[in-house]
Amino acid sequence: DAADKGAFRHFMLKEIHEQPTVVQRTLEGRLGRDHVLVQAFGPQAAELFAKVRNVQIVACGTSYHAGMVARYWLEGLAGIPCQVEVASEFRYRRVAVQPDTLFVSISQSGETADTLAALRNAKADGGYLASLAICNVGISSLVRESDLTLLTHAGPEIGVASTKAFTTQLVGLMLLTLALGQVKGTLEDGVAAELVEELRRLPARLDEALAMDKIVEKVSELFAEKHHTLFLGRGAQYPVAMEGALKLKEISYIHAEAYPAGELKHGPLALVDADMPVVTIAPNNELLDKLKSNLQVVRARGGELLVFADEQAGMSNGEGTHVVNMPHIHDALAPILYTLPLQLLSYHVAVLRGTDVDQPRNLAKSVTVE
Ligand code: AGP
Repeated sequence: DAADKGAFRHFMLKEIHEQPTVVQRTLEGRLGRDHVLVQAFGPQAAELFAKVRNVQIVACGTSYHAGMVARYWLEGLAGIPCQVEVASEFRYRRVAVQPDTLFVSISQSGETADTLAALRNAKADGGYLASLAICNVGISSLVRESDLTLLTHAGPEIGVASTKAFTTQLVGLMLLTLALGQVKGTLEDGVAAELVEELRRLPARLDEALAMDKIVEKVSELFAEKHHTLFLGRGAQYPVAMEGALKLKEISYIHAEAYPAGELKHGPLALVDADMPVVTIAPNNELLDKLKSNLQVVRARGGELLVFADEQAGMSNGEGTHVVNMPHIHDALAPILYTLPLQLLSYHVAVLRGTDVDQPRNLAKSVTVE
């Protein structure tokens, strides 16, 4: 029952723990043996996807962060140019539309005023190939007004801070990346089959990440008395860092900023001292060595580090460095997995600070008026 917290103290915690199940549900009926079923996006999807040469993603808040991850996937895996913009900016500017652009809106509620207005403007403009809504509510305005739909099956999300909606959006966006790449023949050989297999294993990986709750709860004590934090990530983990920072601000009211780790020396390093903990996401990919050197720079300034690292990344605890080992996962799906400990971190920090976790001050679940 969605309106029941069950054994959990807050809806947010319940919704965090639902993620293996709802990710599974979002995948159901959408995977073939070694490919994504393109018709999951609607009966005309195959015909339309064949024409797509560019993708424009528009969304707000957490949904925007999902779109930012998708840009790394669409360009990196499927070779399809992609732009991502917050709806409140996109709707009020003149946009130069590339030919054969698929307009993609992402929204949990499907009723966010700016996202809806951006879709309506895009349709009025007439320059887009088609519109696709990735949405959690089937009877929403966004779904009704879009040509194609992929529903995320996260179920009702009660906590104002979005958790399961985000990870199921990411799953939907990975399905979109593979579906577009398959239809257009732009994926490298074997990538669809490999990622379909990895997607099937994802719910089990998410369970493993949730099993680390007690460890994350312990490290959350580092943050309870702090006023500022910095979140760092590289590549597709940069938007995950942004999402981690947003969660922390929303429910614990601690100032949190996210930066791509390579930007540190271009300004934010000046903020780092013993009072500013730095949270970093370190999967085991080609950017790991660069990230490690970024972290040394932080340590040299006295900044305390919390690193969520792939168990194979060879990172260990040290003076001022707290490493939480994450289960190994395919690099493409790492943004989904690493989101979970960041959600748990902000949850436990908020509980320690005694804030209203499910109903943070000044915020509403859906921003249906500007
Ligand atoms: C995230 O925790 C917030 N609740 C907020 O940023 C939210 O993602 C944003 O308002 C967009 O909502 P939507 O997905 O329903 O469009």
